[in-house]
Amino acid sequence: MTATVSEHSGKTPTGSGSAVLDISGVDAGYGPIRVLQGVDLSVSAGEIVSLLGPNGAGKTTTLLACSGMVRVTSGDIRLDGRSLLRSSPHAIARRRLAHVPEDRSLFPSLTIDEHLRLCARPDGLDVLELFPELQKRRNKRVGVLSGGEQQMLALGRALAAGPRVLLVDEMSMGLAPVVVERLFSALQDIAVSAGLAVLMVEQHVHLALKYAQRGYVLAGGRVRTHGTTEELRERWSEIESSYLGR
Ligand SMILES: Nc1ncnc2c1ncn2[C@@H]1O[C@H](COP(=O)(O)OP(=O)(O)OP(=O)(O)O)[C@@H](O)[C@H]1O
Ligand SMILES: [Mg+2]
Repeated sequence: MTATVSEHSGKTPTGSGSAVLDISGVDAGYGPIRVLQGVDLSVSAGEIVSLLGPNGAGKTTTLLACSGMVRVTSGDIRLDGRSLLRSSPHAIARRRLAHVPEDRSLFPSLTIDEHLRLCARPDGLDVLELFPELQKRRNKRVGVLSGGEQQMLALGRALAAGPRVLLVDEMSMGLAPVVVERLFSALQDIAVSAGLAVLMVEQHVHLALKYAQRGYVLAGGRVRTHGTTEELRERWSEIESSYLGR
């Protein structure tokens, strides 16, 4: 077991190998508001890691700090050993870090095909092969698609860019269980087949523990504990009462 701690500190061991995404000692926030405090977290190639925690814990802020959209005031975030700090969000995306934000950030008046033309790279995945259910809707404006179809497109668009690291915020939000399982199993297959490092925020604990290999529990902007999903599952009632206020 990794640290069973009330106050996490020190370097975080990775799952299967060296970290593709390595967050170390990160403080970050909004203007004078410091949200993240000394966050250490890492994700290896082919691994899905869950970020769990109560509302306001700093989960979304952690993802935004990785994509260069929140200012990091201390510590470092490295992709393949090279710092991402002082790079623009655009430059970070070019280094193959893709982010599926909670609001999906799609363009309602563009079609599926138009979205795919904007993001496709020669070595990226074929979104319509990944989600064939989008085929017959490819000329529809995204604004008229169901929530599940929109999320497939948002995930597919990120994958089409051929990322090394994928950040996903609340992918299951508002979707039917059957669609959620579809999205997560596609993500799981790609993480393994493409050696993608995935960091996902997921409120539904059963999904977070089912699809990830490891997880971190964040509360009050600090990592409180982390471990393999088996370890977290075994300790879940203690984790809930200690950190999630349940
Ligand atoms: N743009 C912002 N300006 C100032 N404070 C912010 C901003 N966005 C978030 N915060 C604050 O940062 C803290 C962490 O927010 P964050 O969105 O990272 O939490 P979260 O863990 O993703 O929560 P949730 O589960 O509700 O999505 C909260 O106290 C929030 O109010
Ligand atoms: Mg959030």
